[in-house]
Amino acid sequence: MYRGGLEDELDDAAQEFVSSLQSDSEILPFDIAGTEAHILMLYKSKIIPKADAKKLLSALRDIRTGGFDPDMNQVFEDGHELLESWVTKKAGKRAGGRIQTARSRNDQVAVAIRMKLRHDTNMIQTGILQLVSALLELAADNMDTTIPLYTHLQHAQAGVLSHYFLAQVNVLLRDYERFAGMYERLDSNPLGAGPVGGSSLGIDREITTRLLAFPDMVYNSLDATSSRDHVSEFVSCVAIMCVGLSRMAEDLVVWASDEFGFVEIADHSASPSSAMPQKKNPDVLELVRGKAASTIGDLVSVLAIQKGLASGYGRDLQETKEPAWRAAEVAEGSLHILFEVLTDMTINKARMAQAAESGDITALDVAEELVRHKVPFREAHLEVGKMVAAARRAGKHVLDLTKVEISGACSINPDTAARALSACTVEGSSERRRSAGGTSRQEQERMIRQAEESVGERFGKLEEQRNDATADIGKMWQEIDAFLKG
Ligand code: ARG
Repeated sequence: MYRGGLEDELDDAAQEFVSSLQSDSEILPFDIAGTEAHILMLYKSKIIPKADAKKLLSALRDIRTGGFDPDMNQVFEDGHELLESWVTKKAGKRAGGRIQTARSRNDQVAVAIRMKLRHDTNMIQTGILQLVSALLELAADNMDTTIPLYTHLQHAQAGVLSHYFLAQVNVLLRDYERFAGMYERLDSNPLGAGPVGGSSLGIDREITTRLLAFPDMVYNSLDATSSRDHVSEFVSCVAIMCVGLSRMAEDLVVWASDEFGFVEIADHSASPSSAMPQKKNPDVLELVRGKAASTIGDLVSVLAIQKGLASGYGRDLQETKEPAWRAAEVAEGSLHILFEVLTDMTINKARMAQAAESGDITALDVAEELVRHKVPFREAHLEVGKMVAAARRAGKHVLDLTKVEISGACSINPDTAARALSACTVEGSSERRRSAGGTSRQEQERMIRQAEESVGERFGKLEEQRNDATADIGKMWQEIDAFLKG
């Protein structure tokens, strides 16, 4: 279609090699909307005649509303060529021949990519807030559920399950903010930049910016057509989030094991084994973990594609689309899976409490209690360590040591030590830690309240953001309907 200046066709293998039809299928709806805005602008700017603008917009509306019927007997290098030929078939050669006036595939693809990522970001941010809401409900239900808190996957301090869920909430709210910051830079219109240096035909970029619901335009035409840092940023937001989700998935995989038995995943989220009839495998969680790896790979691809590229559009940029689309899909899928698993799993509170009882998880509580009795912390740490060792030798829990055993084990006054030990229990342990962000009830309630407030605010803002992007495009379609009637 564009090969007037070349004397020969691409051979089949080369055609296949350069084609981006596959990755373009995902941006087709956005490419159609971008093209509609462009045509309306060309007419309003008196660059194309009304009759041809009508033919083109009517063809585009048919395509937008009527499903897929392009002439697939032809070969196309990409979705933009396909769309132009499809519109030309419907609108006639003369009108169709005006579609690419003052436009290049370079600004055309740039605007479609931004619109798709804008859409994907809205979906992901919605998914994040839904998952956060589920975690907050779980937190509210589990402020009294005692669990061991781990470091190095070894018992560290006794805690409550709500504390775990609230930590995930914090991570996810930061992911949300990262997407929101990226969205501001993404939400800008590159259309009208032409191939690289703009157009001499008197186009009005303000019009397409308004029609396509962008608050601003990417002003410099070279920047607009050849920069993809917004794609890097998008995939980076996804990769960072998916790494966090992967850690949560890993916790749940461990917790669902026979050895831990902290949770049981619902049957509809579990997979059987083809060989072992007893198996109930957490494959969905393993794939949240596995697919997080692919998002890291996607980020590396997107960055590496741009690294050696001279300024101005290079076809290499086409290759940033697949990783970006794939990353978006993994992000949405992982959020959904974790939502399902978390909302439907059974929490085995008794098993968690029992696990917290084993091992000397209150050792730091005992040392802190000794600090209250004016023992320097380092001394308390050492002496409690000796008590723990003695308890292990005696095959009992440190809290159950007798005064005689204490005085045989360490140099702390046995009365003081016995008082310190009796002040500490596993169930009472969380409540003792009232420091800001600690495990006490008051802090759990405070963190739940704060998170609920910010989730409420964000739901409101997100609704506006989604409306800005979609309702305004709806307005463009109404304007087109009115123009076609008039
Ligand atoms: N298929 C191309 C892409 O996805 C569209 C732009 C092609 N531009 C060009 N000058 N060949 O990036």
